[in-house]
Amino acid sequence: MTKNSLAGSLAVPGDKSVTHRALIFSSLCKGTVTISGISPAQDCASTASCMRSLGLTIDAVPGKKNMLVVNSPGLQNLHAPDSVLDAGNSGTTMRVMSGLVAGRPFACRFDGDESLRRRPMSRILDLLEKMGAVISYESGGNGKKGCAPFVVTGTKLKGLHFDLPIASAQVQTALLLAGLQAQGTTSVTLPQIARDHTLRMFKHIGVPFEQPAANTIAVQELAIEAKDLELKVPADISSAAFFMVAAACLPGSEVVLQNCGINLGRTLVVDVLKRMGADVEVLDTAEVCGEPVANIRVRYAGRLKGATISGEEIASGIDEIPILAIAGALCDGELRVEGAEELRHKESDRLEAIATNLRSIGAQVSDTTDGLVITGARELKGGSVWKTYDDHRLAMSGLIASVICAEPLKLTETESIKISYPNFKDDLKSLLAN
Ligand code: S3P
Repeated sequence: MTKNSLAGSLAVPGDKSVTHRALIFSSLCKGTVTISGISPAQDCASTASCMRSLGLTIDAVPGKKNMLVVNSPGLQNLHAPDSVLDAGNSGTTMRVMSGLVAGRPFACRFDGDESLRRRPMSRILDLLEKMGAVISYESGGNGKKGCAPFVVTGTKLKGLHFDLPIASAQVQTALLLAGLQAQGTTSVTLPQIARDHTLRMFKHIGVPFEQPAANTIAVQELAIEAKDLELKVPADISSAAFFMVAAACLPGSEVVLQNCGINLGRTLVVDVLKRMGADVEVLDTAEVCGEPVANIRVRYAGRLKGATISGEEIASGIDEIPILAIAGALCDGELRVEGAEELRHKESDRLEAIATNLRSIGAQVSDTTDGLVITGARELKGGSVWKTYDDHRLAMSGLIASVICAEPLKLTETESIKISYPNFKDDLKSLLAN
């Protein structure tokens, strides 16, 4: 059995979802937006670079780590980009920015890396087309229908109601941004709760919206742009999740993850670990720029039990299933993941990737079209190759699996980690050394 344990207190980097929104929603203001606690993720750098192409200036502040100052000319004064909007690996950049530019009187060509070129974009582009935007898919990608590269030609949009079949915060956000530039009302209903960072930031910056029903949000054309603003980004619970799971699995561990965002659309990892019998405490809750934050303490409390993650709750932990699956691989019983077909459309087919890797380290896994059943082992042997599929969350999960297994793992690559958490290896080492 591994002798590793985790101890100490750590502030993981700023939240990726909130950072994307802070950068993109700066265009709803006319003036200076100061953003502190920004995520160092390469995905967020992709968003910053695309927003610069539309006319924002975005600069680091000398001597201030993780702070950016954005100068925005305002929504009406955004201009056509000189070149392609390259979203890199980031689905959020591509989808949310498509909604932003769909209402502007110019054309934008979007593209991304190999992985992003395989991901479904028609789920948002078809809806923007219904509002009046002109979409044309280009050849040159991998030829998959409804994928990048594509061109969005903006126009005067018309407001519509959308009942989304998937609880996607990205699609909801894109439609609301289009709705802020459309004639009439645009409303969006989600089938389940998802992260509501967009609404919280709208409220914070003074973008009006209504909530006619629990899961429905409605907006009108934006009349007044906000002026100078300050935005603060909480620590990313999706990054903290790796250390939470490791501490719950490794005897003798105790970690505190500081100032984590605990938006209800993100806290499945806390709920599931508690359900599995882990000692997880949410302490010192506070609010930062409309987002709830807390210190999260996780202490090893014996072998975890089995649990079920249902389809209704999956959206609130969609990015944490790979790391939760590792807790499942060590539990006394079964971890069942249901209604998670969406995981097949992330940076990799995460259901297949998890199943393949967990089997290779000695767990028993059966995968269905939309889920997994993981039968825990008392000990994971490891010593094998962990395939990351160039997916950052698979790579970080592999590094955690490696410290949990009896023998370390050989990961196929770890470069992809920079997509969300460039300093992950050092932060893991610091907690292991304590
Ligand atoms: C995100 C929403 C989720 C999540 C992604 C970030 C966001 O995607 O997986 O990492 O910032 O809105 P979906 O909305 O497509 O589920």
